[in-house]
Amino acid sequence: MFKIAAPPLFGLAATTATEMIIAIDGPAASGKGTLGKRLAAHFGLRHLDTGLLYRAVAKALLDAGHSLEDRAKALAAAQALDPARLDERTLKTHAIGEAASIVSAYPEVRAALMELQRDFARKPPGAVLDGRDIGTVIAPDAQVKIFLTASAAERARRRVAELKSSAEPADEAAVLADIERRDARDRTRAVAPLKPAADAHLLDTTHLDIDAAVRAAIDIVEAARTE
Ligand code: DC
Repeated sequence: MFKIAAPPLFGLAATTATEMIIAIDGPAASGKGTLGKRLAAHFGLRHLDTGLLYRAVAKALLDAGHSLEDRAKALAAAQALDPARLDERTLKTHAIGEAASIVSAYPEVRAALMELQRDFARKPPGAVLDGRDIGTVIAPDAQVKIFLTASAAERARRRVAELKSSAEPADEAAVLADIERRDARDRTRAVAPLKPAADAHLLDTTHLDIDAAVRAAIDIVEAARTE
């Protein structure tokens, strides 16, 4: 049985004894999405890849021919976002990821997407959310927080394999440079920077394949449930 969550912070409703929120944060291409999906399936929870929300905002701007620097248009796109219509296939490109890193630094865009994420998290039976600020901002009351890491070189290698399998051209040195630039931007932005929550479990997957990473994450969740 899970513990009753601590008093709600930042307006996040306390979960009941049987609901569970798992927060997964980590840098670009650390495997958060895959791990999130697998954990959600294992524990019978819903899953939200929150990067898709920022990607959808960026794509809406690009599709409409607006500049990524146009903050008013970015805010309008965030407010108009329909989370039921996130098309992973068109959002998961490298270029959209880069663009998402820019619009996600705007505080007003983050604020516009906050309630939607919290609503998703607190609906029964609970959820796995992955992103950059889930354990620190969106769900500080999450019962389990995992901060995924892997070396930038390993993340670039995985991203290149992924791009090649979807027939996108991929140059490993360029992908590594992009990942390092994106890490720096995500870590140093003023609002909700990428950083582990004080109570997050660090999971370094540099030397783990996805099955081993999932097993390690399940062990972390199981240990947290019995605490
Ligand atoms: O996880 P991803 O690569 O799909 O994320 C794309 C960009 O969106 C990433 O550079 C930072 C941003 N992002 C964020 O700021 N906060 C989140 N919770 C998720 C993603």
